[in-house]
Amino acid sequence: MAASDVDSSFFLLFLPKEAFSPMITVSFLFLAAVCLFPGGVAWLLSPCRRPIPGPSGINTALAGTAAHRALANLASSLKATPLMAFSVGISRFIVSSHPETAKEILNSSAFADRPIKESAYELLFHRAMGFAPFGEYWRNLRRISATYLFCPKRISSFGKQRMDIGESMVAEIRGLMERDGAVEVKRVLHFGSLNNIMMSVFGKKINFGKGDGVELEGLVKEGYELLGMFNWSDHLPLVGWMDLQGVRRRCRKLVDRVNVFVSQIIEDHRKRRVSDSVGAVKVDRAGDFVDVLLDLEKEEKLSDSDMVAVLWEMIFRGTDTVAILLEWIMARMVLHPDIQAKAQAEIDAITNGNSRPVSDSDMKNLPYIQAIVKESLRMHPPGPLLSWARLSIHDVQVGNYLIPAGTTAMVNMWAITHDKNVWPEPEKFKPERFTSEDFNILGSDLRLAPFGSGRRVCPGKAMALATIHLWLAQLLQNFKWVAAENSSVDLSECLKMSLEMKNPLVCGAVPRF
Ligand code: HEM
Repeated sequence: MAASDVDSSFFLLFLPKEAFSPMITVSFLFLAAVCLFPGGVAWLLSPCRRPIPGPSGINTALAGTAAHRALANLASSLKATPLMAFSVGISRFIVSSHPETAKEILNSSAFADRPIKESAYELLFHRAMGFAPFGEYWRNLRRISATYLFCPKRISSFGKQRMDIGESMVAEIRGLMERDGAVEVKRVLHFGSLNNIMMSVFGKKINFGKGDGVELEGLVKEGYELLGMFNWSDHLPLVGWMDLQGVRRRCRKLVDRVNVFVSQIIEDHRKRRVSDSVGAVKVDRAGDFVDVLLDLEKEEKLSDSDMVAVLWEMIFRGTDTVAILLEWIMARMVLHPDIQAKAQAEIDAITNGNSRPVSDSDMKNLPYIQAIVKESLRMHPPGPLLSWARLSIHDVQVGNYLIPAGTTAMVNMWAITHDKNVWPEPEKFKPERFTSEDFNILGSDLRLAPFGSGRRVCPGKAMALATIHLWLAQLLQNFKWVAAENSSVDLSECLKMSLEMKNPLVCGAVPRF
């Protein structure tokens, strides 16, 4: 008989009778403490004297596809909206669902680090900005990208490219409508966003469906899946080495392919730079982000493998969020024809009855379009738990509670933007709430901060908004968006790496002229 087949109560027979009762009592008390301790097992041994309210035991909310809703419900039912503690395996978590504690966490230098998941580590992201530990290397990356990729001059220099990609998406939608009578919006937006990032970062347009395009699409798809997966190895180190979900194995395979793909692009740049600088005619090109990285000098200079990580991250961050948000916005346009018509009237007025295409320079004069984007970010924040959490570097006080070093901190932005004490009628899609006041969504007001806040706020926020505003205006200028025959808009959500529509939007786009 194998040891595992023996019922554990069998061993109790060998214990002396007098030890029986106290031992059982102590064990029972210990188990009760483990099971009932607020915040769960990981908080049991923490140095906090004042327990933070939270569910006891091990919480599995993060493993589901609606973690933002599950955590919001738990926080509200336990009256732990300002701060709730919970455990996943041996990892200690806190989550804020209130603007005040959210601000305290995101703006505190104590939370300037990020917990690194196994998948992110294996996929090289600890050498890229998003997961790099808080320190000199991370600061250097932020400085480089702020100066050369995300600065206003650079963003506006990509205006023509954004507009061209928007126009080619419009042409593609026309073609799809003629062929099928309906469009799956996300597919068009996904390739548009991917190309936008590829052009800004690699200076390269990709032809999807062929050669490089097929490989890139495969890399991105597999990467999203791996990074979006809940991995028990991150929280249960004892089973971590077994890699039960196969995450490590898949990451290692993927990273080999990423290395080949991105290194080839870097090599092509090196060769082109040599050929541009020799010969009779010197070519002076406007460089892309790869050129910027290759031009860095001395202490700023990155190794080739670090460059691969940084470039690879940009593809990841830039593509998914923009396409997903625009899909939600188009779903809202189909559901609210009155709001759509009001936005189109605004565009028609500024372009003299559509006598010219909308462009970047019109955006400041399209306040209603901007209000629609803000309201969509409120109702459907792409990172409802602010995507990638923070980690406390040292013990720190949040509200009245002591948070020990090494605690993962999350902000439930979705819970804040759906709280009726913060936003009246939170379930109503009403862009008008943003037309009377100039609400700043870039991180200063935590009632709506979809790009995060503080030191690790999203560095791509201005670039993302420039793209979303322009493409939305182009899509509304060219088409009236309607429900497709036999298909209604389903607003069900699915939280993967970002908050996606569970059933992709399929709708009609009727040309307006
Ligand atoms: C709608 C579009 C986007 C949304 C909603 C969004 C949201 C976010 C959020 C919530 C964070 C975490 C912030 C925090 O911890 O306080 C973040 C970080 C980040 N985002 Fe974005 N993002 C968007 C677009 C982009 C784009 C276009 C890029 C670049 C091409 C980008 C690059 C990054 C990077 C590199 C970080 C990590 C920063 C760090 O840890 O220092 N994002 N983003």
